[in-house]
Amino acid sequence: MHWKFGTMWLELWLGSLLLIFARFSNAIDAFVGINIPTNLSNLPSPELVVGILRTHHITHVRIFDTNPLLLTALSDSGIEVMITVTNNEVLAIGESPSNAASWINTHVAAFKPATNITAIAVGSEFLSSNPNAATFLVQAMANLHKALVASNLNDEIKVSTPLSMGMISKPFPPSTATFNTSWNSTVYQILDFLKNSSSFYMLNAFPYDSYVQSNGIFPIQYAFFQPLPVVRQIVDPNTLFHYESMLDAMVDATYYSIAACNFSPIPIIVTETGWPWSGGANETDATVENAETFNNNLVRRVLGGSGPPSQPAMLLNSYIYEMFDDEMKPGYGVFFRNGSSVYDLDLGGSSGNFSGGFCVARKGADPASLQGGLNWACGPGQANCTAIQSGQPCYLPNTVMDPAYLPEVQTRVLVGSVHQHLDLWVPQEVCHRHIGFLNPGI
Ligand SMILES: *[C@@H]1O[C@H](CO)[C@@H](O)[C@H](O)[C@H]1NC(C)=O
Ligand SMILES: *[C@@H]1O[C@H](CO)[C@@H](O)[C@H](O)[C@H]1NC(C)=O
Ligand SMILES: *[C@@H]1O[C@H](CO)[C@@H](O)[C@H](O)[C@H]1NC(C)=O
Ligand SMILES: *[C@@H]1O[C@H](CO)[C@@H](O)[C@H](O)[C@H]1NC(C)=O
Ligand SMILES: *[C@@H]1O[C@H](CO)[C@@H](O)[C@H](O)[C@H]1NC(C)=O
Ligand SMILES: *[C@@H]1O[C@H](CO)[C@@H](O)[C@H](O)[C@H]1NC(C)=O
Ligand SMILES: *[C@@H]1O[C@H](CO)[C@@H](O)[C@H](O)[C@H]1NC(C)=O
Ligand SMILES: *[C@@H]1O[C@H](CO)[C@@H](O)[C@H](O)[C@H]1NC(C)=O
Ligand SMILES: *[C@@H]1O[C@H](CO)[C@@H](O)[C@H](O)[C@H]1NC(C)=O
Repeated sequence: MHWKFGTMWLELWLGSLLLIFARFSNAIDAFVGINIPTNLSNLPSPELVVGILRTHHITHVRIFDTNPLLLTALSDSGIEVMITVTNNEVLAIGESPSNAASWINTHVAAFKPATNITAIAVGSEFLSSNPNAATFLVQAMANLHKALVASNLNDEIKVSTPLSMGMISKPFPPSTATFNTSWNSTVYQILDFLKNSSSFYMLNAFPYDSYVQSNGIFPIQYAFFQPLPVVRQIVDPNTLFHYESMLDAMVDATYYSIAACNFSPIPIIVTETGWPWSGGANETDATVENAETFNNNLVRRVLGGSGPPSQPAMLLNSYIYEMFDDEMKPGYGVFFRNGSSVYDLDLGGSSGNFSGGFCVARKGADPASLQGGLNWACGPGQANCTAIQSGQPCYLPNTVMDPAYLPEVQTRVLVGSVHQHLDLWVPQEVCHRHIGFLNPGI
């Protein structure tokens, strides 16, 4: 079904505004983002991807490469973006500072400042698949950092490398965890780099895997951030910290491992975590209900604002794995490729009580972009577009793209995160309280 952009009033969900206020009452910088598998054979259109992100209040994304169409679509969206140097690119960048400089020019500088790139993940568990190329990894990180310094982008953009829990030999109890000693020198160099460049440690941590491998030792509630009866609580015998979730314990194991290398705490960001909703016949806990429980409880836990027991001031910021199903590791996708959700997930953690708002097409806005935005908003975006249909109270005919035709409105709200094609208005009398969302598209 096609929707007429000439109806002029475009509904806007004010959730993002509420989110901004919610963030001040909570821990200001706590967030849960999402991984976007950009290396899919058929990634949904970048406009659809950005529309989904906005509908679900997603403020942080990590993409698995540097997909230029998506980076462009994310411009002026207010969404923070972590990009990835693919494992295949690490060697060349580690070998030559000029390769690093040209990578930064092509994949970063060309998109700044419109696209808010704030981090570069160098490889993806590179050490697990390339154990003999560790020196290239460390050198690639250093070369990229130098290139950022040369471009004066090093304050805004941090360089790090996602490491798996497999780097830690025995993660429980957390207080005695250490990195696998065969990685001593590599880990030391990585930590030294992170410390010197005020960056953070990127951790991929999947409670699902540990839960499955534990063969029933850990109750599923522990993986789900749910309270346990006193007799079943998970306690570190050395520190007597009570661990309320497996993710807390995994992150703490990493903090203790860093400390064992004689480094003061380096902030950890969980670059991948999640729960599959489908799996093999023997994966009985990979259900939609469990994936929904894990991810929504993760959001609640993280936005609650405290860190793990040993580092209560360090936020547990995390990126959910992942937005769409990936052929290589299927079953984790939170959204189908048509934009509908596999299960409910709201990363804003807000109550869903929005006052209605509308936005108005800016003079000179590209009609095709607006049409695309409307098609998305009134279709997969699930905005209630009834009111702007012909014969309905908010319908205005095609000719009124010009703001001069606007009825009197009392409040004008400009939201920085909304695409520049649109100015936003909140009419307080006309069409009050219609709730919807618009992705203006590009
Ligand atoms: C980009 O993100 C950073 C970190 O949250 C923020 O401080 C900055 O204002 C953002 N920049 C833009 C242009 O949105
Ligand atoms: C440590 O890493 C080495 C090399 O990857 C591996 O063979 C060994 O099993 C690991 N040790 C532990 C305790 O995980
Ligand atoms: C790694 O470091 C630990 C603790 O400092 C030490 O005991 C161990 O021998 C080292 N291993 C290697 C392979 O260097
Ligand atoms: C980090 O800083 C220390 C002290 O300034 C220096 O010795 C070391 O080489 C630096 N390491 C890296 C990876 O830049
Ligand atoms: C399911 O079975 C496959 C093949 O036997 C095995 O590789 C996998 O680890 C099993 N998964 C679970 C969750 O037990
Ligand atoms: C996409 O990249 C991610 C991260 O590097 C990797 O885990 C996944 O296997 C890749 N998928 C495909 C289809 O290449
Ligand atoms: C989207 O795709 C899923 C899975 O293929 C399907 O179940 C669902 O009905 C589709 N939704 C829409 C709105 O087409
Ligand atoms: C939602 O709005 C209604 C009407 O303004 C109000 O009565 C209700 O308390 C609100 N609910 C929440 C959860 O804020
Ligand atoms: C959509 O909005 C119309 C009024 O514009 C309202 O009558 C209708 O109930 C709404 N539909 C839904 C599903 O909220």
